[in-house]
Amino acid sequence: MTIIQEIPVLITIFGGTGDLAKRKLYPALFRLFKKGHLKNSFAVIGTARREWSNDYYQEVVLESIQQLSNDDAEKKAFASHFYYLSHNVEHTQHYDQLKHLADTLDATYHTLGNRVFYLSVAPNFFGTIAQHIKTQHLLTSNGFNRLIIEKPFGHNLQTAIELNNQLTQTFDENQIFRIDHYLGKEMVQNITALRCHNALLKACWHAEYIDNIQITLAESVGFEDRAGYYDKSGALRDMVQNHIFQILSLLSMELPETLNGENIREEKASVLRHLRMYDENAIKEHFVRAQYIGNDDIIGYKEEPDIDAYTRTETFVAGKIFIDNARWKNIPFYIRTGKRLSHKDTSVHIQFKPTSPEVAGNLLSIHIQPEEQIRLFINTKEQGLSHHIQMIDLTKTYTQQNAPEAYERLILECLHGDMTNFAHREEIELSWAFIDRIRHAWDNDTQSNIPTYTAGSMGPIESIQLLEKDGFHWINQ
Ligand code: BG6
Repeated sequence: MTIIQEIPVLITIFGGTGDLAKRKLYPALFRLFKKGHLKNSFAVIGTARREWSNDYYQEVVLESIQQLSNDDAEKKAFASHFYYLSHNVEHTQHYDQLKHLADTLDATYHTLGNRVFYLSVAPNFFGTIAQHIKTQHLLTSNGFNRLIIEKPFGHNLQTAIELNNQLTQTFDENQIFRIDHYLGKEMVQNITALRCHNALLKACWHAEYIDNIQITLAESVGFEDRAGYYDKSGALRDMVQNHIFQILSLLSMELPETLNGENIREEKASVLRHLRMYDENAIKEHFVRAQYIGNDDIIGYKEEPDIDAYTRTETFVAGKIFIDNARWKNIPFYIRTGKRLSHKDTSVHIQFKPTSPEVAGNLLSIHIQPEEQIRLFINTKEQGLSHHIQMIDLTKTYTQQNAPEAYERLILECLHGDMTNFAHREEIELSWAFIDRIRHAWDNDTQSNIPTYTAGSMGPIESIQLLEKDGFHWINQ
């Protein structure tokens, strides 16, 4: 049995009245409290522009964890650690008030100078806040100081570099925890374990045995209430630059001899340095963008009230990516993601080469969500007198009740100073360099028709053809 040690810490949440804080952060912190990772020596300061009292803030926190326990005393005890300060991120003197409160809570709760600054605000404020944290002396010298930020990390390579430069004026790279919530998902964390601890897979994990790898991040939902953001971003920036590239690099990196955060992040960045960069013609050949059109129940993207009727923003992307190194020589990685597809399916499929033309190759499928599953398809003799070969499906389905949620894991890993599952500056910049080329090619092409797909389907015909011309097909069409 592992003994859980409480981690003394003062967490300041910028954007404490926001949706993310209520939906994800307070519940995640409560789960850590229930398990004992946070106990007596922790406090949370919520800040935002609104004028809230501590009492009101604590009620909001209580409301957000209502469903997570029947024990009212426990919920109240948790909420009593929360303090609110109205704050304008541009006003220097507000940081002085924040420092005063932080120092007081540090002394009251014995948080030992350990501080986490969680920026749950619009990214254009990241730089200002980080700068003020330094100039107004919110950093301590006796404990750890860590910054957590949420995507988007820039809008393209240049803005990502600018943002990283701003942040590193206050924090060292090893104090910056960039959340990509996909890295907190159980089955994404399982990829490295699977690759590392199975001789079977380790030996075959390269071009000689693998035909292609597929990454699907399909969503049945639309852009929900984020029209303004989504129409400027599109599927390429929203899902490919971050989540898909994180999964791609975990699948394709060289395995470091020692599995620690630093080595893993270095290997992930290293493989991204070998991405084959496409020119405009190659982009046309290897990348597909599309927009959904309506069906009987759902209106089309362009008909959405808050979306420009002439928008060329893509709600679907499929692409073929190559990594030009010895391990992956000419092996395609097919990726696809889209909104308003037939169903939610986040999965990875590793299609092994067949051993003969008569039998299908092995398949390893990692289902990330909604099911958490690993399926290995292997060939065996059919039972009985027959000598036919049949493929059997070895499936493990994870059914753990109350499994930790991505934010719970990631916040805990940050408290432990474990950077393995956070995006490194270099990874971000390398993936933007690849994405920018596609973006530029698409943005420059203002004439050609953008393919469409019907809401509720699995994307445009062009996405199917992308694989068909190579003799493959999407697993889970
Ligand atoms: C976010 C995107 O990063 O991920 C959203 O901005 C998307 O558009 C979401 O819906 C998907 O996350 P999940 O965990 O529901 O697959």
